[in-house]
Amino acid sequence: MSDAIKISPSILSADFGELSRAVALVEEAGADSIHVDVMDGHFVPNLTIGPPVIKALKQSCTIPLHAHLMVDNPDESLDWYIDAGVDGVTVHVEATGHLNRALSHARESGVKAGVSLNPSTPIASLRDALPDADHVLLMSVNPGFGGQSFLPSALRRLGELVLLAREMGASPAIEIDGGITAANAGDVVREGARVLIAGNAVFGAEDPVAAVRELRVAAEAGLTPED
Ligand code: DX5
Ligand code: ZN
Repeated sequence: MSDAIKISPSILSADFGELSRAVALVEEAGADSIHVDVMDGHFVPNLTIGPPVIKALKQSCTIPLHAHLMVDNPDESLDWYIDAGVDGVTVHVEATGHLNRALSHARESGVKAGVSLNPSTPIASLRDALPDADHVLLMSVNPGFGGQSFLPSALRRLGELVLLAREMGASPAIEIDGGITAANAGDVVREGARVLIAGNAVFGAEDPVAAVRELRVAAEAGLTPED
């Protein structure tokens, strides 16, 4: 097993009545972190969970908990999530006019700072934020819902991101989110993704433990001997 690949199940597709059980299951399967999709009904047409639920989850979660903030004006609410105990936050480049400030604030608060892009947002818009980002989360669906189909343009965009990061001398962890399955995991890794976020492929599966392991095997097949 290579530690180059991280699998991060998204609890969006889990049973919201049994969240701590869902987290325990994927921990047992060797998941590297838990991905929490926070949606505000404005930035995306869906409303999910917020700081109180994150705080409760944090009590039992033994692996890092990351909040993907699909919210308008994350600058106003960033501290809610940091105070709730997250280990990492991801803000959308489309949602804030002060990206560097949001990322620096997260880092200074002791959590991993990440930035996300919607599928139609140019990769180049990240250029001057890269030095302040611990991770970049590329959306491979339009955010808002679990269970959507992977957009193939994400493969080209991963390649563009790898080149831009190299040009800027930055090495953020490259995450991919949306429609990830065992069928495309190798392809996204081949193009540079190293953190695979998956909701439906894990919690929509009959056996989520087996699904996490299957994703990892499929993802590792995309690594080259130099990785
Ligand atoms: C989509 C969310 C994703 C979603 C992924 O808006 O950001 O994290 O939960 O779910 P799947 O893997 O089902 O596309
Ligand atoms: Zn997400």
